Amino acid sequence: MDSPTNFKVSLSFLLLLVGIASAQLSSTFYSSSCPNALSTIKSAVDSAVSSEARMGASLLRLHFHDCFVNGCDASVLLDDTANFTGEKTAGPNANSLRGFDVVDTIKTQLESLCPGVVSCADILAVAARDSVVALNGPSWTVQLGRRDSTDASLSAANTNLPAPTLNLSALITSFSNKGFNANELVALSGSHTIGQARCTTFRARLYNEANINSSFATSLQANCPSSGGDDTLSPLDVTTPNTFDNAYFNNLVSQKGLLHSDQQLFNGGSTDSQVNAYISNPGSFSTDFANAMVKMGNLSPLTGTDGQIRTDCKKVN
Ligand code: HEM
Ligand SMILES: *[C@@H]1O[C@H](CO)[C@@H](O)[C@H](O)[C@H]1NC(C)=O
Ligand SMILES: *[C@@H]1O[C@H](CO)[C@@H](O)[C@H](O)[C@H]1NC(C)=O
Ligand SMILES: *[C@@H]1O[C@H](CO)[C@@H](O)[C@H](O)[C@H]1NC(C)=O
Repeated sequence: MDSPTNFKVSLSFLLLLVGIASAQLSSTFYSSSCPNALSTIKSAVDSAVSSEARMGASLLRLHFHDCFVNGCDASVLLDDTANFTGEKTAGPNANSLRGFDVVDTIKTQLESLCPGVVSCADILAVAARDSVVALNGPSWTVQLGRRDSTDASLSAANTNLPAPTLNLSALITSFSNKGFNANELVALSGSHTIGQARCTTFRARLYNEANINSSFATSLQANCPSSGGDDTLSPLDVTTPNTFDNAYFNNLVSQKGLLHSDQQLFNGGSTDSQVNAYISNPGSFSTDFANAMVKMGNLSPLTGTDGQIRTDCKKVN
């Protein structure tokens, strides 16, 4: 019965299956090729976060800034070369992204443990999860098998990462461009329950906006004058800056969002109800956040034979 046509059909079906399989990540990707990969990353993250709690926030943000720019391919880690300008000097990243040294330390350990096996993109995904856990947040199973890009895009970093000046509808559009709905925007923004921001990113809010608690604004103005002090830091969550909890959402309801974009999530618009729900049900925030992180980690990974496993996360092999 196997006519040439049937054979062709089954062959294309087989190739399709292989194609789908190779494009899929798996939680057990390194279980035989590098069984200690995950415990190695976790130890390094735990040690970095115990030296400096903020490092957990910085590592979480690195994964976000990787994934939203041409997918989770570690493009964010590449230094500029003669062939391309990397993403490190993009507006949202310059003088702001940190954690590169921790990633390099992890990569060095993994290269001596299992040379050429664990991608920089997977290190970012695992380190983001381990960072959240180290700061008492929810855990999730990280899908693995991403490979690393051989290029980076300064212009994509400038256009695809949301700015803190955006209003609610622009934030919704920015996330929708990456396949996320408004609920996922709110859940992922809950990342701002940890970490710090520079005065330059929220100054206008302190001096020009009405939907800010006045004593909160006054206390921030001391460290963020109307001119100067651009790089002075303030916590994104004024209540518990080093704990991954739902206090960020309580802050929004008290008009104590630090960034303009934060307060947009609770400003009389369509996402107010979601903020209230995360206050009354912290477990739903944990669940939604974990699910949205897995989804973010699935953004356009390089798999199979695409890309490479970089030896040094800063450079193409
Ligand atoms: C909703 C749109 C978002 C905007 C407009 C935004 C903007 C910003 C800005 C301006 C800062 C401060 C940077 C600086 O001053 O150097 C920041 C910090 C941070 N962002 Fe976001 N962000 C957004 C979403 C996210 C998401 C989705 C995540 C993670 C999944 C995230 C994680 C973080 C973390 C953890 C920090 C603190 C980093 C540190 O202390 O080193 N952000 N964000
Ligand atoms: C630039 O690209 C060329 C051609 O692909 C390659 O041979 C060269 O090694 C690259 N240079 C750098 C610094 O990556
Ligand atoms: C939100 O920002 C966009 C882009 O700047 C603007 O076109 C739009 O009118 C703003 N929407 C509201 C409701 O302010
Ligand atoms: C602003 O914050 C202060 C200090 O936390 C608080 O006592 C006050 O009630 C808040 N004001 C409003 C209008 O929410």
